[in-house]
Amino acid sequence: MRLLNVVVCALGLISSHVFAQSSSVDSYISTESPIAKAGIIANIGPIGSKSQGAKAGIVIASPSTTNPNYLFTWTRDSSLVFKALIDQFVSGQDTSLRTLIDQFVSSQAFIQQVSNPSGTVSSGGLGEPKFNVDETAFTGAWGRPQRDGPALRATAIIGYANWLRANGNSSWVTSTLWPVLKLDLDYVAANWNQTGFDLWEEVSSSSFFTTAVQHRALREGSALASAIGQANSNYDTQAANILCFLQSYWNPSGNFVTANTGGGRSGRDANTVLTSIHTFDPAAGCDAVTFQPCSDKALANLKVYVDAFRSIYVVNNGIATNAAVATGRYPEDSYQGGNPWYLATFAVAEQLYDALIVWNTQGSLNVTAISQPFFAQFSSGIAVGTYPSSSTTYATLTTAIKNFADGLAGAMGALLALLI
Ligand code: NOJ
Repeated sequence: MRLLNVVVCALGLISSHVFAQSSSVDSYISTESPIAKAGIIANIGPIGSKSQGAKAGIVIASPSTTNPNYLFTWTRDSSLVFKALIDQFVSGQDTSLRTLIDQFVSSQAFIQQVSNPSGTVSSGGLGEPKFNVDETAFTGAWGRPQRDGPALRATAIIGYANWLRANGNSSWVTSTLWPVLKLDLDYVAANWNQTGFDLWEEVSSSSFFTTAVQHRALREGSALASAIGQANSNYDTQAANILCFLQSYWNPSGNFVTANTGGGRSGRDANTVLTSIHTFDPAAGCDAVTFQPCSDKALANLKVYVDAFRSIYVVNNGIATNAAVATGRYPEDSYQGGNPWYLATFAVAEQLYDALIVWNTQGSLNVTAISQPFFAQFSSGIAVGTYPSSSTTYATLTTAIKNFADGLAGAMGALLALLI
């Protein structure tokens, strides 16, 4: 399966020299962001230059129609794309996005009602992973259902709903957004303990990413429901159950998160890193129960995940065992030969940048027995304990971790140099 094209399309414009030194990463991001955003918008119907017949608000995975044919819309992809756009809108970075966001909501309200091979709106159809770009059902064989879609869609739309409430438009939330949200939240509450295909559309079991995004959706959904007079205690009950289940993915002897309950693989998977960044909540500190980016479990997991790719990609040859390398979806991946993915490698960097934000805010970082192997990469033999931001150890660690994160961009630059 190919990665989410709309997210990576603009990355093709990266050239290796941009990453020649870590200090250039910030300026690279400010140059690249508008290019990436224009690439995303070009893939949204009806007027996106690459959106080829997509209805209003529909995000296409790729304009490619052959080898592979990817001119479809996935609920996961669309929701993650619109989560990013809604974040830009509600933070005031881009107020021009409102029309597109309203079109997204309308398109999703329509698609929810389209009967498909996973069922009708009331019999499992919300778990259908992809649709044709004209909003009709895709009836071919596929890995279905995929149960992260409704949760991710709810999280995206809740962000918009909260902004509307804060800006005097609660009636629109209640009349137009809530019916869409309620369908997705009820689906999550009723089906989270059923198996389905993972985010890579390959393994049918329970999956860490799916479980975690379901938890987030129900927590945020419950808070919104209460705020608009639609309180539903079952959302809280099921969120607590999901959080309990989430703990079972932790592998204490391997010191990492096992990505799927099935699939017969080692379990080391970018799934787990994407989870930490997609459920990042700066206000949650380094909470390990929700696997926040700076939690000991998420950091321990990050090391095990990254190390899984050190010896399997040629591009990583000769790189020190504590330096950044290119990573892929999972080490056993054989699709198109099994290669590094931009999405996966940048997710590692993002988790570390997220962690740095929280450590700087709280003015310290904590090394536990679980996270010690992660920190020992940057300070050999470091002792378990709390290091305040005034300490030299804190400075040493955070500088090295920032360099490591910047180096992940450099690893991708090296990869692109092979392609140019
Ligand atoms: C395959 C990816 O594994 C999946 O996450 C994505 O939703 C689809 N391609 C569409 O981009």
